[in-house]
This record gives sequence, structure tokens and C-alpha cells, in this order.
Amino acid sequence: MLFDLRRLRIVQLLAVAGLAGCSPGDAGSDSVEGRWYTAAQVDQGQALFATHCASCHGDRAQGLAEDWKKTDANGNYPPPPLNGSAHAWHHPLVVLENTIAAGGAPVGGVMPGFAGTLGDEEARATIAYFQSLWSDEIYARWQEIDAR
Ligand code: HEC
Repeated sequence: MLFDLRRLRIVQLLAVAGLAGCSPGDAGSDSVEGRWYTAAQVDQGQALFATHCASCHGDRAQGLAEDWKKTDANGNYPPPPLNGSAHAWHHPLVVLENTIAAGGAPVGGVMPGFAGTLGDEEARATIAYFQSLWSDEIYARWQEIDAR
């Protein structure tokens, strides 16, 4: 599938670019049950998401396009849902971080990069927010991918 190939290319390109971030590590005692992040990170991320991401990805990360797998007239993919219903859970944390930092440019996508706008912790909080919308089942499947 074209979309999958393109996502795979993101992984490869970011690996080559050596942009690897750090792992979530020990989330501490106040982390949300079974998750890497804290409730405070989700709260911070929700506010940041509303400001920087919701206009494209929807205020509940539900996506705004009818079909996120369908390219537009220019061959661009629409902003996909990030709420666990689309593809984002196929990506390890570091790839999600790098996608937010670099945007879609490395793979010819149209998402803007946020490296100059959001700090690492802020970008990570936006991930905490949209992952808080994932079911435990989707989160568990993501964890397997993230651990590879
Ligand atoms: C101007 C519109 C726009 C904004 C603003 C935007 N995105 Fe995106 N995003 C996209 C598009 C379009 C894609 C699909 C890839 C591409 O074309 O770059 C995408 C892809 C992604 C992906 C990869 C999803 C997947 O299934 O592989 C993540 C993660 C993501 N965005 C997170 C964010 C976060 C977090 C923010 C806010 C900090 C944000 N985006 C802001 C348009 C946007």
C-alpha cells in the first residue's frame, strides 16, 4: 500500500538522518496506569495540540478528511487522525517525535515541522495527548512496535 510505503520511508529517512531522540525512560510514579506519560503531560499536550495541531488533525485528533488514505488533487495525503483509528500507532515514539520536529518535508509531505516552535518536552506532550485517546489494545500493539 502506497501509504504504508511512504511511512516506511519516513522511518528509513529519519534513521539515516540520525535524529533519534531519547526513550521515554522511567515515567515515575505519577504516570498514567500502563502508559509512559503522566496526566500532567496529557493536560499540557492537549493545550498545545489545540493551538498547533487541531486545525489540521481535528480538536480530538480525529482527522478532518473523509478518507485519510486518499490523496488530494495534488497527490498529497490529508492530515490523518492521530486518535488510534489510523496509522500513527505503527510508529515508535522516536519516529513520532521526529515527524513532529521535521514535518512531512523529508518524505515530500506537507505537514510543517515544529522543531523551531515546540521544545522536545512540548512535542512529547502532544504525543501523550493523542496517545491518551488510544484504546488499551491499540496502545499495547504500539508498545510492541516501540520496543523493537
Ligand atoms: C498544516 C497542517 C498540519 C498541522 C498544523 C499539523 N500536521 Fe501533522 N500531519 C499533517 C499531514 C498532511 C500529515 C501527513 C504527512 C504529510 O503529508 O506530511 C501529518 C502527519 C502527522 C503524523 C504522522 C501520522 C501517521 O499516521 O503516520 C503525526 C504523528 C503528526 N502529523 C502529528 C502532528 C502534531 C503533533 C501536530 C502539532 C504539533 C501536527 N501534526 C500539526 C498536517 C499537519
